[in-house]
Parts: sequence; structure tokens; C-alpha cells
Amino acid sequence: MSDQRNASLAEVDPLIANAIDNEVARQANGLELIASENFVSEAVLEAAGSVFTNKYAEGYPGKRYYGGCEYADVVEQTAIDRAKELFGADHANVQPHSGAQANMSVYLAAIQYGDTILGMNLSHGGHLTHGHPLNFSGLSYKVFDYGVSRETETIDYDELQRIAEEHKPKLLVCGASAYPRIIDFERISQIAKGVGARMFADIAHIAGPVVAGLHPSPVPIADYVTTTTHKTLRGPRGGLILCKEEHAKEIDRRVFPGVQGGPLVHIIAAKAVAFGEALRDDFREYQRQILANAKALCSELQEQGLRIVSGGTDNHLMLVDVWMDGKGITGKVAEKSLEAATITVNKNTIPFDQNKPFVASGLRIGTPAVTTRGMKEPEMREIGRLIAQVVHEPESEEVRTHVKRGVAELTARFPLYAKRLKRTVTEVAKR
Ligand SMILES: Cc1ncc(COP(=O)(O)O)c(C=O)c1O
Repeated sequence: MSDQRNASLAEVDPLIANAIDNEVARQANGLELIASENFVSEAVLEAAGSVFTNKYAEGYPGKRYYGGCEYADVVEQTAIDRAKELFGADHANVQPHSGAQANMSVYLAAIQYGDTILGMNLSHGGHLTHGHPLNFSGLSYKVFDYGVSRETETIDYDELQRIAEEHKPKLLVCGASAYPRIIDFERISQIAKGVGARMFADIAHIAGPVVAGLHPSPVPIADYVTTTTHKTLRGPRGGLILCKEEHAKEIDRRVFPGVQGGPLVHIIAAKAVAFGEALRDDFREYQRQILANAKALCSELQEQGLRIVSGGTDNHLMLVDVWMDGKGITGKVAEKSLEAATITVNKNTIPFDQNKPFVASGLRIGTPAVTTRGMKEPEMREIGRLIAQVVHEPESEEVRTHVKRGVAELTARFPLYAKRLKRTVTEVAKR
């Protein structure tokens, strides 16, 4: 190999090296409250950055279209075995590059183009891949949707049943991106059975609480279950499909060659490591703390005068109504103001939103990432006060300076990627 090929990233490509260094510092020095994000372990990062990035391994363990797959087989079979154990599933496909591709594979396996599906409305908490008109799901299938009731802001199961009976979907899609309450998978399963639909549960957000037994699992009752691996599950970015044995062949065939080419073996290695971590006892405790933290943060925000959609949370996230019927600010302004104060959240529509999705009336706030740093209820109370100060006075420089100081003090007490950060600082100094 030439010297150039052995040189460090900082020597070869300082622009990208700098961006990575800056991102390490941004993650370490800010408060990450995006509900779909987390911080993986050094072990997961090491696997994701491994030489498996070089390997083509189309096919499945023991049945590959390429030579030299013996170690790729070890990695993928381990990921499969651990995923099955973790979720108590008959079958696991660990190859989906993302949650969206996992979902696409399920649609292809379960139904035909043009068939009717029933999914949760995006603005009530669903996901784009559950039938949004701009997504492949909305473009390929006839979509009906269900949502939450105006009064309780929780899923209206009676109405869901009525819509299902009226439109007789072939596939009933459940799971959500922005829904803070327990999902009654048992009830949804009964509704699906009653109308002859297959049931598809997308647990991308709640996979962590599900494996920890802190949210009912759809795995024993749904035909198909998908999840991302990078949210509460705390693995690398990617997707995972679980299904009953009767659907296994069709699912595998739809992932490859249906939707994807070669699997990302380095990412599958990182998934295997993350699943191994999730099988340990301390993962359950981590999930319990995420939920306890969400409750503490939620109640502090309420005490600070903010309205929480549905009045609370049962999982890792909450929706804060910052618009309050025009008396407050938009989600867009709230997100930007918090970002300027080094608190990262995302604006989100709330049910029956009066604002357009890009403006939105709410914030979605989640606790998985700050819980990974080791923060507990007292820190959540502190974070709640900091958020409320910004939301109540989004233009105030004084508030911003005060909140930034509070964030700096908090993050210094709960270090993240300390070795990388140190290396970053020294390497930046050298450059
Ligand atoms: C419920 C749900 N399903 C699927 C996805 C898609 O995952 P990805 O971004 O990996 O494609 C998300 C992502 O936010 C999600 O929340």
C-alpha cells in the first residue's frame, strides 16, 4: 500500500476529519433530546468502522453469491440468533439498510401493488412509510388512515375498528414515530383478524422498551414486526425484520433480491454487537431509566406551564404543545431557539395541528440519548426548566446565555466519547 493509503483521515482529508471532530464535540457538548437518536458504544462504533465495509455478501449465511464469506456468515448468523433471542421471534432478517427498507420489504412480502392498507396518520404520530402520499407506500397502495381522538389524544381504537370494517384492508399497519402512549397491539390484532387483514407492527421507536418488557410486545401476535436498530435499541443506523416462520422465506426473498443488493456487513456486525449489549441485564435497567426520565421531564415541563399532548407519556418520548392555540410560539421557532441554546429537539405536528408540518405546533422530545449519558430524574427536572425558559422567552439573549451555561455544566458532568473528544482536541491543536 502506498503511504497515502496508510495515512490517517486527518492527513488525507482534513475537511471531513474536521467535520467528524466537530460532530463529536457537538454531540458531547450539547443536550441531545431527539427521540429517535442515541449514542452507541465504542464497541458498536468499532464494528461499524471495520473492514467488513469491504465485503460483498449477497445472499444469506451459508447461501452466498460471493466467495470469502465465512466471517461475514459468522457475523450475520450471530446477529440473527441474537435478534431472535432478544425479541423471542421465529425469524429475523438483519439486512435492511434502514427502517424504511425494512418496511418496504414487508409490504412487498405481504400484499400486492394496489391493495388496500390501513395505517396511522402521519400528523397523529404515524410514519411516512405507513401510507403517506409522497412515500412509496402511498404511491403503491390504496391507503386509509386512523388517528387519535380529539378528546384524549390517544389512539381511537373504536374508530380504527370502524374504518377497518368499512375498508377491509389487506394489511393493518401500526406503530408510530411520535406517539407517547402504550399501543394496544392485542386490540389491533383482534381488529386485523376480524377483517381478515395481516398485522404489521413497526416498533422502530419502542423496540428498547419492548425487549425490556416495559411495553407490550407485538412479536407473538403480529405477522410482521420491523424496527430500526438505532433508536431506543442503541445500535447502528439500520433496520430489522422479525416474522413468523410461515412468512420467513417470503421476507428474505423480498429484502434480497427484492429491495436491496449486498448487505452492509460492517453494519450487521455492529447490529450483532448492539443486540449482544441489549441481551445483558443492564439494558433493562437502561430502558427503565429512559422511561422514568421521560416521566420526570414531562412533569417538569407541565409544572413550567407547557401543555403535553395526551397529558403525559408512557414511553421514551413526549409531545409538547408550544403553540397553545396561538398563545405560544410555533414548533419551528421553538426548535431554532433551543438549538441556539445547544438543546437539540425536533419540531413536530400535534394531532389536529393548526400549522403546516414544516412550521408545526409542537416539539417531540425524547430521553434515550441523555439517559445513555447517565442522567437521571434530577437532571431531567433541570433540563425541563431550561427548555421552558427558552420556550417562554425565545428571543431573549439573556435566557439563551443562561441556558447555554446550564447545558455546559450538565454535559461536563456526564461526559460522552471522552477519548475521542480528547483526541479531537489534541489533533485539532496539532493541525
Ligand atoms: C416508526 C418508524 N418507522 C420507520 C422509520 C424509518 O427509519 P429509517 O429512517 O431508518 O428509514 C422511522 C424513522 O424515524 C420510524 O420512526
